[in-house]
Amino acid sequence: MTRTNAPQYLPGFGNHHATEAAPGALPVGRNSPQKPPMGLYAEQLSGTAFTAPRHENRRSWLYRLRPSAQHPPYVPFEQGLVRSGPFDEAPPSPNRLRWDPLAGAPGADWVEGLVTYGGNGDADSGAGVGIHLYAADRSMTDRVFYDADGELLIVPQAGAHRFVTELGVIDAEPGHIVLIPRGVRFRVEVSGTIRGYVCENYGAPFRLPDLGPIGSNGLANPRDFETPVAAFKDVDRPTQCVQKYGGRLWATTFDHSPLDVVAWHGNYAPCRYDTARFNTIGTVSFDHPDPSIFTVLTSPSDTPGTANCDFVIFPPRWMVAEDTFRPPWFHRNVMSEFMGLVTGAYDAKVGGFAPGGASLHNRMSGHGPDQASWQGATNAELKPHRIADTLAFMFETRMPIRVTKWAQETPLMQLDYDDVWSGFEKGTVR
Ligand SMILES: [Fe+2]
Repeated sequence: MTRTNAPQYLPGFGNHHATEAAPGALPVGRNSPQKPPMGLYAEQLSGTAFTAPRHENRRSWLYRLRPSAQHPPYVPFEQGLVRSGPFDEAPPSPNRLRWDPLAGAPGADWVEGLVTYGGNGDADSGAGVGIHLYAADRSMTDRVFYDADGELLIVPQAGAHRFVTELGVIDAEPGHIVLIPRGVRFRVEVSGTIRGYVCENYGAPFRLPDLGPIGSNGLANPRDFETPVAAFKDVDRPTQCVQKYGGRLWATTFDHSPLDVVAWHGNYAPCRYDTARFNTIGTVSFDHPDPSIFTVLTSPSDTPGTANCDFVIFPPRWMVAEDTFRPPWFHRNVMSEFMGLVTGAYDAKVGGFAPGGASLHNRMSGHGPDQASWQGATNAELKPHRIADTLAFMFETRMPIRVTKWAQETPLMQLDYDDVWSGFEKGTVR
């Protein structure tokens, strides 16, 4: 992959953008003129119902070399290890689970390298998530992918990623996250091996959380989200288009690349965010706040304050709390917590939770610091302490996460995970 043509971006989360890769390609003053400029085809891409309230409404107008409709039927595509709601192929596990990093198969591209660990809900009803990891070392060539079942929140963990999407080009590295709306086609170019995590969000699109008493600034600031400018390639070569629809993978072959959008405007577009720009907020007195203080994006459900999915990060930060057990406390939660580690170490686990690995603490399961972390934090001198060079994250979701058969049986599963909570001495009551 060459970095000589660095992508350009437009700032802002959920903004209404207007961008054209060829001057004059974007119609002025109307969406669907009788004859769009340059013989392009106008197409509306609707990410919400036409009648969604204005503040919820997401759609973009695309001006492309050929209409998206111009393709033969889709046929089933090799399913690999991709699974989808209702996730009923294996009994749900009530246990705390943890996995070593995904190895991946040599020669796999991003689609072939997807492995589903679990999820909840189902795509058809628009509630729940699918959770996938990926490892790939080959660029998608003459192949594009889109997900009709959900929006994709991608968390790169290793390697240089380039997402060549219908609406523009996004470069991403570990520390970035990438949001690709439902239905937007893309391919992934790699430089060496890439790894990462995917939250496939069947529910309401991710948005910035309300800030309440925090005020009008803080956490992820809107201007730090970057949407690519329009970019296209005029490619008259057969291009396979793989989609996930109804939980299954399907494919057809266009006689051209469908990444042929010359200009677009609207607020339905992919974007990236550098988590290094997250304004991390924590206590300056005592007690560790609820981890919701670290929410980057949230997909609300129909119950206020109870997310279909929150995306939460644990970035570098200062710990200054007085008379406080500073790591995350012991916890049982009605929400279910899937964690990944991009880099470094997580402050509640001294070992075993490796970058590229994953853990799952499902509804009401007891979890918290391991014995060694508890011992260290209980006896630590409470001077200001910086947690540096780390990035853990969590997909926290209102429904229990059902683990796929593969993820329950893989040798990556750490069968001794429960042992991290062994050896606590009994409290003393006199
Ligand atoms: Fe928790």
